[in-house]
Amino acid sequence: MEPDVKQQLDNILSQYKGESGELISILQEAQERFGYLPREVMQGIAKFLRLPESTVYGVSTFYAQFRLTRSGKRMVKVCRGTSCHVRGGARILREVEKHLGIKPGETTDDFEYSLETVACFGSCALSPVVVINKTVYGRMTTAKVRQILADTK
Ligand code: FES
Repeated sequence: MEPDVKQQLDNILSQYKGESGELISILQEAQERFGYLPREVMQGIAKFLRLPESTVYGVSTFYAQFRLTRSGKRMVKVCRGTSCHVRGGARILREVEKHLGIKPGETTDDFEYSLETVACFGSCALSPVVVINKTVYGRMTTAKVRQILADTK
């Protein structure tokens, strides 16, 4: 493990007692810190909690909130729900794919952007919807989404 990663993980772990029930909270905090859960971090957590690595890995893959690969600085999520779809969601997704040069589930080579699709954000009144990190952009058009992506560069 790189010294910097170890130091940051130690900082997180120092707030915990080392009980197995703390696993989810530690994983959440580690993901918040690193942006995803690197293998060596999961190994460090397993050791700290005296759990098999397979348990930590199993929990990390079970919950959709955890990411096991490094994602881009900006997570672009395009809604594929019905309401967004009938208002041009597919066009928006194509525009984002073209602009970033990646497909859903992929990350740009410079780790600036990752792209995902979502079944529904629960903001159907604003459809079509795109979310970048935690900001919701409603009533998207291809021109607007191009502008937003250019502005977030
Ligand atoms: S269908 Fe897109 S926000 Fe609900």
